[in-house]
Amino acid sequence: MDRRLFIKILFSSLLTPTFLFSNEYNKTKAILKKIPKSEEYIASIGMGTWLTFDIGYNTKKIKQRAEILKLFFNSGGQVIDSSPMYGSSEKVIGKSLKHIDNYKNLFAATKVWTPNKWHGKKQLGNSRNYWGVQKFELLQVHNLVNYEEHLETLYDLKKNGHLKYIGVTTSHGSRHKKLEFIMKNYELDFVQLTYNILDREAENYLLPLAKEKGIAVIANRPFQGGSLFNYIENINLPSLAKDIGIKSWAEYFLKFVISNETITCAIPATSKINHMKQNMQALYGNILTNRDRDKLHKFFINI
Ligand SMILES: NC(=O)c1ccc[n+]([C@@H]2O[C@H](COP(=O)([O-])OP(=O)(O)OC[C@H]3O[C@@H](n4cnc5c(N)ncnc54)[C@H](OP(=O)(O)O)[C@@H]3O)[C@@H](O)[C@H]2O)c1
Repeated sequence: MDRRLFIKILFSSLLTPTFLFSNEYNKTKAILKKIPKSEEYIASIGMGTWLTFDIGYNTKKIKQRAEILKLFFNSGGQVIDSSPMYGSSEKVIGKSLKHIDNYKNLFAATKVWTPNKWHGKKQLGNSRNYWGVQKFELLQVHNLVNYEEHLETLYDLKKNGHLKYIGVTTSHGSRHKKLEFIMKNYELDFVQLTYNILDREAENYLLPLAKEKGIAVIANRPFQGGSLFNYIENINLPSLAKDIGIKSWAEYFLKFVISNETITCAIPATSKINHMKQNMQALYGNILTNRDRDKLHKFFINI
């Protein structure tokens, strides 16, 4: 890590309210990544909410999700990603946030997901109400649906100070050529795409393009929807991982993702406290060298 980055991380950690929480992690060691088009640094592990927060209106379950969010923030987490496509997730986020005293570091990211421009505007208003936030840090066009018209809306919001960053999303390797076209022809702050130890297709041309254009990248499905854990059932963490400070398979998969220099943030989703704890461990320690990443990849694909 170069000296300038280290000082930035140190200062941003000292200045953030999470530093005031006492917990087992040393915030000065959190792996923060710079948003290329701004001077802002964000925690490289965020969280997704598809399925895991789509739990309806069950008060007991909402309280449990609030505990997960509390742990997320206390561990230095910032980015929460959702969408109107995720059923009750946005409402559950809002209800859970009401149980939390301090979420000043929240980096709220949702999406617009409708073929209609007018309805898109309405959706964004609804999302603000559901989350209970004044404005979103990041608004993304979900799965590139009607991106031309929705991007117009998002550019207006940004111009008028109602939004910090604009992005588009895709997943499962779909529509990469279209995403490439949009990245080349539209002004974007973020893209969101699938990237994990099994699905590295984005490395072919999207990540190099993001680097060239200075676009931040959010990696969705960092556990390939959870299926990565099926491969390692009953398999011990290898010493090559332990030797570089990795303590769990979850951390193994997440460190692989965030150690790619172009990835800004990974957004694993979980409904379980102990899984959130494991996932947030990946925010600490060292970025892996390319050599170590190659070793982790080789071991995993030979299981
Ligand atoms: N087009 C798009 O915009 C798009 C598409 C896909 C996803 N996304 C975003 O990306 C987020 C992440 O993707 P995803 O939810 O599809 O998949 P994921 O994060 O790759 O995997 C989630 C699954 O992993 C399990 N899991 C999490 N932590 C674990 C741990 N430490 N140990 C064992 N299992 C663990 C979860 O189960 P438990 O609940 O049991 O922990 C859940 O079943 C989504 O939630 C969404 O916000 C966006």
